[in-house]
Amino acid sequence: MEQTLVLVKPDGVQRGLVGEVISRLERRGLKLVGMKLLQIDEALAGRHYAEHIDRPFYRGLVDFITSSPTVAMVWEAENAVILARQTMGETDPSKSPPGTIRGDLGITIGRNLVHGSDSSESAKREIGLFFQPREVLAYERNLDPWITES
Ligand code: RTP
Ligand code: MG
Repeated sequence: MEQTLVLVKPDGVQRGLVGEVISRLERRGLKLVGMKLLQIDEALAGRHYAEHIDRPFYRGLVDFITSSPTVAMVWEAENAVILARQTMGETDPSKSPPGTIRGDLGITIGRNLVHGSDSSESAKREIGLFFQPREVLAYERNLDPWITES
């Protein structure tokens, strides 16, 4: 089963939108298998956003993500990566349709509330940055047959 890393970034935590983000992913049917509140430090931010190091927005992004607590979660489903990113919407909230987290709750790209891994490989790497293996739980949900076949 595929897993993906979802962050509620400092703007989402400060705005009291953690429950809103969790609720949307839960209602979609994804399964929460890991969760923690943490203060991301410079080193973790650098590892998480390593692919963006040469981009002009990098410094601002790292300053922002380290500015206040973040909620990190692991969500599981068939196609969890794509499903979570669909539910979040486009990177830029102004291009994100209503019905998505960013389209309903955000205005600008530098305050887009959430992060979602962009591939299964990225998800494995990112989950490893934020979670010990024992912090990601395997458990049965009795409602799963009502969400997916088999
Ligand atoms: P994310 O990683 O946060 O889920 O978002 P994403 O894949 O849709 O976007 P990505 O290209 O990975 O960018 C990571 C984060 O950097 C900020 N950003 N700012 N000012 C800009 O042009 C710009 N471009 C990207 C956003 O906060 C984005 O989520
Ligand atoms: Mg990304």
